[in-house]
Amino acid sequence: MRNLPPTRDLTVLGIESSCDDTASAVIRHQPGARPAILSSVIWDQTALHARYGGVVPELAARAHAEKLDLAVEAALAQASVTLDQIDAIAVTAGPGLIGGVLSGVMLARGMAAATGLPLLGVNHLAGHALTPRLTDRVEFPYLMLLVSGGHCQFLIVAGPDQFTRLGGTIDDAPGEAFDKVAKLLGLPQPGGPAVERAAQQGDPARFALPRPLLDRPGCDLSFSGLKTALLRARDTLVAEQGGLRAQDRADLCAGFQAAVTAVLAEKSRRALAAYLEHAPGDPVFAVAGGVAANQPLRAALEDAARDTGARFLAPPLALCTDNAAMIAWAGIEQLRAGHPRRTFVARPRWPLDQRAAPLIGSGKKGAKA
Ligand code: KG4
Ligand code: ZN
Repeated sequence: MRNLPPTRDLTVLGIESSCDDTASAVIRHQPGARPAILSSVIWDQTALHARYGGVVPELAARAHAEKLDLAVEAALAQASVTLDQIDAIAVTAGPGLIGGVLSGVMLARGMAAATGLPLLGVNHLAGHALTPRLTDRVEFPYLMLLVSGGHCQFLIVAGPDQFTRLGGTIDDAPGEAFDKVAKLLGLPQPGGPAVERAAQQGDPARFALPRPLLDRPGCDLSFSGLKTALLRARDTLVAEQGGLRAQDRADLCAGFQAAVTAVLAEKSRRALAAYLEHAPGDPVFAVAGGVAANQPLRAALEDAARDTGARFLAPPLALCTDNAAMIAWAGIEQLRAGHPRRTFVARPRWPLDQRAAPLIGSGKKGAKA
């Protein structure tokens, strides 16, 4: 295997298959220049799982196994590079649905064996957490909120492999809660955008929904009780009226969205306070994950950042949600730091902060780290 000096140009192929997106990308890094995303192919499996109301792990794994090599071919072709112009292959080794993770790791191992290229194991969450450096060249340490259908945690990112978790969800991820609420109200999937749209016509104060864990210190979050409270409110309305009116749906969505926003904004303020105790001159609060697309939530997080003097940063949505560009970039970070993870196994669970107590719960998108 070749040895790569961290100061030279690097072109890395990324492979991601830990949930329901089959993805491959090529990233080039030239010292001193903005990293270039030469290609980023993302084939989602939404249609495959639609009728089951959630991701079916076996179907996901099989679809990844069938399509991954084609996604890699497409990523190389779109980047106009051949394998002999690639310096290393970076693959998601966890956390996630183990069948999908194994599909990616096996393909990457085969490619590395055939080409002699170095193979790097990447933590999917590290991919999300390092994205602000790919998009905005942010300096360490920064505060990160991962908020998606599968993840929810606050992290201080101090290096390519240095993460301190300040808190996270003890049950559902917020995106999962948005999706379940949409289902309870007969709205389409994915639930987040549908709930946000309905909430625009709603009164957030009509239903007194709880603000889980706000009364407890720290940055941990919980969303499953909120969903149950909404279910009760819905059932009371159905019992009284025989069904739901459009205005009821809008009010329930607005109440739910306001509760999620209030909780995430307050916990963000606490996380910011902890981070700012040791922050650099240019403190940054970054978000990633599909739920960060929610406008009222994004505005509340921006306010929290502004009030504490931190710069708010949200990478473009295509790089906030699951993709392989972030995996290739995390591989580049490993090489530049001189700590490539060459020995690894596929793992369904893989917490970023090994010192933090494990979080409870396991969402529809697999085990949470
Ligand atoms: O990051 P993502 O694409 O996938 C993973 O979870 O890995 O996030 C998808 C989640 C879904 O649960 C979806 O309902 C939620 O993000 N989402 C939203 C919005 N757009 C997407 N949640 C709230 N408001 C939105 N506008
Ligand atoms: Zn993800």
